[in-house]
Amino acid sequence: MKHALITGAARGIGRQITVELLKQNFRVTGTARVTGFPKEMSSIRSFRGIHTDLADPLLLGVTLKPIFEKDLPGVLVNNAGIFRKADFSVSDEEWLASWDETFLVNLRASSLLCKWFINSHIQQSTGGIIINIASRAAYRGDNQEYAAYAASKGGMVAFTKSIARDFGKNGIIAYSIAPGFVETDMAKDSIEELGIDYLTRESSFNSLTQPEEVARLVSFLASGKVKHMTGSTFHINGGSYMI
Ligand code: NAI
Repeated sequence: MKHALITGAARGIGRQITVELLKQNFRVTGTARVTGFPKEMSSIRSFRGIHTDLADPLLLGVTLKPIFEKDLPGVLVNNAGIFRKADFSVSDEEWLASWDETFLVNLRASSLLCKWFINSHIQQSTGGIIINIASRAAYRGDNQEYAAYAASKGGMVAFTKSIARDFGKNGIIAYSIAPGFVETDMAKDSIEELGIDYLTRESSFNSLTQPEEVARLVSFLASGKVKHMTGSTFHINGGSYMI
């Protein structure tokens, strides 16, 4: 049975990815910071839930590093992320705190998990697939108050390409996925503040992308059927930003 490690598995896009990979007969290790794991996964024997804080590298060394050493997943999905607001008018302290927190969770933690994943696969002479959930913001940018978020996701895309360039010959495949607005808790504030009509004004559709659709894309990439697309970004944004 194939094994996948998915961060932020308890809700939103990560929840749907977990459900989809379990359906595809993966054994899944899912992480959450504090949220309990929904019954649709916790009741399944091939699911294991781990609570950890991606903003705490020391804790990650205890909670997640041993998995890469003893129960190496064939697929790593860096899904967890945060979307913090920091207007250009806030104090320098507030600005830097927001940038640090955003980069710690969105980029530094994922980079560490990728490093553990790659080093263990090289050591064990096995291959694996990394799927990093970036954002449309990495390409299009975001509103100024979410500049740190966009920059962190741009960094994630560049990091994914570096992995793809250098580790393909070691059997490591790496993709980015760049969603536009997806109807989850993360987008809730924007939906409440701006409304669906506003958020879909540049979209080909009148509705936001559903997390299940992102999950099906992850499932396809995790199948290993398109290895020569390593380094690519898969855009899923309802036609709102075509490149
Ligand atoms: P969400 O807010 O519903 O879920 C985020 C997940 O990340 C949660 O499970 C949360 O527990 C986890 N997480 C956050 N901080 C953590 C920490 N310090 N330690 C451990 N876990 C932590 O968000 P959603 O929408 O499901 O987002 C998933 C990914 O998709 C994120 O990387 C996000 O940036 C990306 N994305 C989402 C879009 C959207 O419109 N919802 C658009 C583009 C990208």
